[in-house]
Amino acid sequence: NKRFAVFGNPIKHSRSPMIHAAFAAQCDVKLEYRALRVELNDFERAVTAFFDAGGQGLNVTVPFKEQAAACAAELTPRAARATAVNTLWRDDEGVLHGDTTDGVGLVRDMVANLGWRVQEQRVLIVGAGGAVRGVLEPLMRELPASVHIVNRTVERAETLAREFGVLGKISAGGYDSVSDEQFDLVINANSAGLSGEMPALPPGILSERCCCYDLLYGAEPTAFMRWAAQNAAWAVSDGLGMLVEQAAEAFYVWHRQRPETQPVIQQLRGVLA
Ligand code: ATR
Repeated sequence: NKRFAVFGNPIKHSRSPMIHAAFAAQCDVKLEYRALRVELNDFERAVTAFFDAGGQGLNVTVPFKEQAAACAAELTPRAARATAVNTLWRDDEGVLHGDTTDGVGLVRDMVANLGWRVQEQRVLIVGAGGAVRGVLEPLMRELPASVHIVNRTVERAETLAREFGVLGKISAGGYDSVSDEQFDLVINANSAGLSGEMPALPPGILSERCCCYDLLYGAEPTAFMRWAAQNAAWAVSDGLGMLVEQAAEAFYVWHRQRPETQPVIQQLRGVLA
């Protein structure tokens, strides 16, 4: 069997082994995929050891995505722009390659699965951490009318707006920078949602057909999803579909086969409930 793994810390709740097992069954690929907890100061050694022992591909999750970008010798253009990597592999010459599939996963879930539009939409992004850095380029490729990034630490939002500004119209500010605007698509990438918090965004900022997407997911609607519903969002989704789509793109990078994601999203939804 070919060996794959995901490295993270914490890693206990990772759904990646289940997702890749389901893809492998569909595509008739024989593989083993494990979730491994790596100590914070041991990442690079663990990566080298994994590939030296014959590992074929690695996924990388919090908090190692930036470190993974730093240890890859070759980055895909989208990973170079994101300076974050969630998918690693070695080529025949032993060169370590890194890619990031999160942004493609997000866009595919919104556009292909949910049928939402990004093109020409006024987009609001809540949060300015690593997750946003990872998804901005594929998002900008969909040609939104504008993107406004709000964050508690305004400077982080401004840095992202500057760095990715070559790809389109991006502005940045604090949570109070949006009071008299409306948005057609709001994406939440604020990890405070993990503890059930929702930043204080003013009411009335959702346009009539506004879609609200949370990168987080869980058995219950997230704090952001509840906020969106209270503010009469037209459509609301959590990030479960993105999780499966980013895995499908990693699967494609490694195996050059595209699994069907819809049955796996449904299977996972059943496990979460
Ligand atoms: P991730 O990989 O999830 O993006 P991150 O880089 O730590 O992780 O970013 C977390 C995001 O959630 C940031 O936008 C962060 O805001 P700051 O940049 O101001 O820190 C936001 N966040 C986390 N906890 C928060 C809190 N209690 N209140 C407001 N924002 C919070």
